[in-house]
Amino acid sequence: MLTVTPTTETFVAEVTGIDLTRPLTPEAAAQIDAAMDTYAALVFRDQALDDAQQRALGEALGTIEATRATVDAEKSRLKDKTLNDISNLAPDGSILAADARRRMFNLGNQLWHSDSSFKAIPAKYSMLHARVIPPKGAPTEVADMRAAWDALDPEMQEKIRDLVCEHSLLYSRQLLGFTEFTEAERASFAPVQQRLVRYLPSTGRRSLYLSSHIGRIVGWQVPEALALIRDLMEHATERRFVYSHQWRVNDLLMWDNRTTMHRARPFDDKKYPRDMRRVTIMDVASTLAQAA
Ligand code: OGA
Ligand code: MN
Repeated sequence: MLTVTPTTETFVAEVTGIDLTRPLTPEAAAQIDAAMDTYAALVFRDQALDDAQQRALGEALGTIEATRATVDAEKSRLKDKTLNDISNLAPDGSILAADARRRMFNLGNQLWHSDSSFKAIPAKYSMLHARVIPPKGAPTEVADMRAAWDALDPEMQEKIRDLVCEHSLLYSRQLLGFTEFTEAERASFAPVQQRLVRYLPSTGRRSLYLSSHIGRIVGWQVPEALALIRDLMEHATERRFVYSHQWRVNDLLMWDNRTTMHRARPFDDKKYPRDMRRVTIMDVASTLAQAA
């Protein structure tokens, strides 16, 4: 029997009584979906998954994203293309050099974001699994975008309710001064439009759809747009909306990208390995096709 126990944060629960290395039954998948709606992130401890088992978990919950949105994806360590390599490791297992292009690109994970908000059909759930963790530090933080929406004053809600933003990896990486993209990367990372406020029929709640990938608001002057986005980001990531996940090996953290943002926190990544792998399932449509 699967048990869902809330943590001290209202939007995060720990799930016990389930072995994710075994095929997920339709009943368990439905229970996980229901828990993801009630909460917005779930913690599963002591799940010794291998790549195939992690992939099967994703397949049981939805359609896994087909493309890996990173630079030099062909140089990935992981053979299975349905897994994203969230590590600081090179294909030979060594720690990436300080000036490695992948390392510099991956540092963008330290900016608050929602996975794949820069894709026309963005991500639904992300499932991040810890294989190797550094001796200290490197938690992952998750912020509740439903509570952040609820806490906005009605005038601000009215002002932003129907806005459409442009998201791109080029924008988020530019925030950290990473601008060396090839022409092919620029083309594949071309901006996509998403609503700033989402409504989830299964919960009846709205949420702010923020991400560091946002670089424009349609119809707005750029500085005006970015000043507003920065204000909303500050509001939405106040500590009262944030859960900090302290990793143990074989933890699986699942978050809903439709209703949360997350970010990596720094650690001594030139000294210690950190091997995390992520399977991500797609949402059903662009947010533009969803009711406000
Ligand atoms: C991710 C991500 C954060 C982390 O896997 O999408 O942003 O702490 N990870 O590694
Ligand atoms: Mn991410």
